[in-house]
Amino acid sequence: MNIPSDLRIKIFADGANLEEILRLAKDPMIKGFTTNPTLMRKAGIEDYETFARDVLAEIVDRPVSFEVFADDLDGMVAQGFEIAGWGPNVNVKIPVTNTQGESTVPVVERLVAEGVVVNVTAVFTLDQVRAITAALDASVPAIVSVFAGRIADTGRDPIPHMREAVEILRDRPKAELIWASPRELLNVFHADESGCHIITVTNDILAKLANAGKSLETFSLETVKMFHEDAAGAGYEIQTDPGKLKLVR
Ligand code: G3P
Repeated sequence: MNIPSDLRIKIFADGANLEEILRLAKDPMIKGFTTNPTLMRKAGIEDYETFARDVLAEIVDRPVSFEVFADDLDGMVAQGFEIAGWGPNVNVKIPVTNTQGESTVPVVERLVAEGVVVNVTAVFTLDQVRAITAALDASVPAIVSVFAGRIADTGRDPIPHMREAVEILRDRPKAELIWASPRELLNVFHADESGCHIITVTNDILAKLANAGKSLETFSLETVKMFHEDAAGAGYEIQTDPGKLKLVR
C-alpha cells in the first residue's frame, strides 16, 4: 500500500496563484514551489516581477523557481542574474534549449560559475540530462526538471527513464532531479520509487493525496452516491413500463 508518510521524495507545489501558494506554504509537507510562464499566464498574472516579488515577500524559507523568458543566450544569462537577485531562495529556471533548439548549456555554465542555483527545465531526453550534468558544478546545488508526464503522454514509460536520469546525476551530488508534469497521484509514488529527489505537483493532484490508501469499498460507494445524487440533482427521469418487467422474468 502506498502511504504518504513513507515517501522520501520532496513535494513541491507547481502553480502561479498567489492565494494558493500562500495556503500551501502553511503545509510543512510542501518543501518548495515552482512556477512557469504558462501557469502564470493562465493565472492571469500581468506583471511577472511584481508577482514574483509578492511570492518571495511571503515565502522565505523554501525554494521558489522563476523562469527566464529571453530567447537568446545572453538575454537568458542577464535575466538569470536578475531573477537570482530577487531573493536567496530563488531557483532560476532555464529552459534546456531556446526556441531554435540551441542548447542552453553555456547559460547554465555562466550562472552556475557565479553560484546561481539553476533549475533546468523542459528536459526530456537522457542526452539532455548528460549535457546538463556535465555543465553543473559539484559544489553548487542545482535542479534538473525532467517532464515525466509529457514523456508518458508519448506512450513511453517514464519510470526507467527517470531511474536512468537519477544515475546520470549521481556525478553531481548537489544536483536534484524533479519529476515534473505528473499526471496522477500514483506518479508521486513512481517518482519516489525511481529515486527522484523532488516531484512538483499541481493543486488538483495534491488534493488527491488525501485519497492515498483509501478503502476501495468506501471509494466505490462514494462514486455510486455521486452518480445517484447527480442524476437526482439534474432531475433526470425514465418512465418505466411495468409490463417490461414481466418480459424480463
Ligand atoms: O512542472 C512542469 C509543469 O508545470 C508542466 O506540466 O502539465 O504542462 O506538462 P504540464
